[in-house]
Amino acid sequence: MTNKLFTKVDKILHGGDYNPDQWLDRPDILKKDIEFMKEASINCVTLGVFSWATYEPNEGEFHFDWLEEIMDNLYENGIYTILATPSGARPAWLDEKYPSAMRVDDMGMRARHGGRHNHCMTSLEYRNKVQIMDSKLAERFAHHPGLLMWHISNELGGYCYCDSCKKVFQNWLKNRYNDDIEQLNHAWWTYFWSHKFNNFSQIDPPYKNGESCVMGLNLDWKRFTTYSATDFMSFEIDILKKANPDIPVTTNLMYLFWDYDYHELTKKIDIVSWDSYPEFHNDTESLADTFSDNAFNHAVYRSMKPDKPFLLMESVPGAVNWHPINKYKRPGMHKLFSLQAVGSGSDSVLYFQIRKSRGSSEQHHGAVIDHVGTNETRTFKDVSALGKDLNKLSAVLGSLVESKVAIIYDWDNRWAIDDARILAQETKKFERVCMDIYKELLHFGIDADIISQDYDFSKYNVIFAPMLYLLHDGIGDKLKNFVSNGGQLLSTYFTGYVDKSTLAYLGGFPGDGLTQLFGLVSEEMDALYPSDENSISLSNEAKDIFKDDLTQDAVKVYDYQELIRVKDAKVLGTYLGDYLANEPALTVNKYGSGNAYYVAGRTKISDLRFLIMHMLKDAKVEYKIMPEGIEYHKRVSLDGTYEFFMNMTNEPVSVLDVKGQDMLQDEIIKNELVIPPMDVRVIFNAYN
Ligand code: GLA
Ligand code: ZN
Repeated sequence: MTNKLFTKVDKILHGGDYNPDQWLDRPDILKKDIEFMKEASINCVTLGVFSWATYEPNEGEFHFDWLEEIMDNLYENGIYTILATPSGARPAWLDEKYPSAMRVDDMGMRARHGGRHNHCMTSLEYRNKVQIMDSKLAERFAHHPGLLMWHISNELGGYCYCDSCKKVFQNWLKNRYNDDIEQLNHAWWTYFWSHKFNNFSQIDPPYKNGESCVMGLNLDWKRFTTYSATDFMSFEIDILKKANPDIPVTTNLMYLFWDYDYHELTKKIDIVSWDSYPEFHNDTESLADTFSDNAFNHAVYRSMKPDKPFLLMESVPGAVNWHPINKYKRPGMHKLFSLQAVGSGSDSVLYFQIRKSRGSSEQHHGAVIDHVGTNETRTFKDVSALGKDLNKLSAVLGSLVESKVAIIYDWDNRWAIDDARILAQETKKFERVCMDIYKELLHFGIDADIISQDYDFSKYNVIFAPMLYLLHDGIGDKLKNFVSNGGQLLSTYFTGYVDKSTLAYLGGFPGDGLTQLFGLVSEEMDALYPSDENSISLSNEAKDIFKDDLTQDAVKVYDYQELIRVKDAKVLGTYLGDYLANEPALTVNKYGSGNAYYVAGRTKISDLRFLIMHMLKDAKVEYKIMPEGIEYHKRVSLDGTYEFFMNMTNEPVSVLDVKGQDMLQDEIIKNELVIPPMDVRVIFNAYN
């Protein structure tokens, strides 16, 4: 229930990426930086993310003294270091001498030197250079008292289609299909269009001017590139761990990054961390929506290692320089955003960057210290005020978010949905559906876990598994066990169509035995034009079951409607119109001591609030309906509970029935908590 990430620090980490190597000729600036950091309660910086050219200006010529001096100095001033490996960007001499380090694109063209995050993951020459670099760093710094954690490379991403990667891909396939090309032919259904392979050496990555129509190949390529990036990362980790196994490692991740399966990749790191850069105050959504989507991402990351906090590795002080519109955070936003991370289970608020660089592409990106070089800027003041608040919240360290409700979101399924030639490309929106469910649960003060279908379901009482198109082996039994043991499960249209290889299930969807769990078979997956209209009309029995929470008789359907044939399920709602009139659209099947609900048409998730409330009640999950504009998170430790109330409106909002100690204001709340506009309150209650 409690698990502190670091023994060395007893404060929430506050700080971020710092690039002193850009200022080595300005000792006055470096000195000032430390003064400013201390003033802003900064206790941790990330060094060396892009320092290769300073470490090794010419091949084999190493300079680490400057780093040691800086780390020493920081440490003496109470500031810890997260030390990165510099593999995310390469010096010119390296690419010049070892072009295999540069990627080849999907037309087979080798990149030229430049940019970052673009090395070939299988180039032996690059690995060799990285090995030398990482070993030297580890040798020199793995036992430095100021070293808190290793940070592997930076924002790993992308694909390489070079001959070396192709060869490794072929070997990976050989291994996956037991060296039997017929197993691959079957899994990929290459009988179609005469695409059968005679041996593994005929297989190409999905080149743009090559094969793109084999779903199994496309999905295996995604799995392979996940493997390849993870393998590169593990190769770096092993070097560092050899020098000191006690220093944890992380790598900074990005949102629901498309390229790699983060559930796989994070198995190899000790601490999960991610970079969060929402577009605040935009024109297309409410602040509450911007925030709930961000909280969804926090939930994705914290759910990857449920027994420990995660870290917010990067966020912006002020404004970024790469959004379509680079708008500054308005007053209150810095605190609101930062404490959302902490409320969601992060033990850090870290920034990109401490000091603004003077030139090049990020010269106008937000920083704690601006070009003006003073502590008088609005951003600096926001950061130092936050530092003081974080210091008041030190007790939160190591506490966890615990949830009885989970949403199944995973990369394989997302990739398969996106690649499937069915539905309508524009409106598939699997991620959006998951995020909308998460947001709906936030309305009940529930911070759901976001899990892959491979996670343990046993700790949950309620599971949402929307659009679970692709099923991994054994998922049918897992879901059946979950429901028969009393779980409440909700699934939707487009569930269980294909197996892990993307082969369609025979004998009725949803496959893998789920037709029994839901008591129905799905027959047609119909996609709608925006002008099409349909609704689900609730049966009298349903109206009776949901009467306490029902505010409408019918629920609108858009985008998708599935024709289902009910076997054992109870029909709670039927389609009102179109060729599906009177056909079942909302069903429940009692299975063991739980219930399996199926919603065959796409609806707004908030229109299903009555059903969600019913499931929560049946599952005996505690909830507290939040006033409009209030987002709530709760962390739990052995000592007690920490409740975060965030007000995203421009008015004060009060929440009743709140008792405990307001940690930021240092006062006792006896019943009514008033949260000022754009502000946060954190309430502690000790266990008696
Ligand atoms: C990413 C990178 C950083 C920096 C920031 C800018 O998160 O990791 O190096 O480029 O974006 O927002
Ligand atoms: Zn390559």
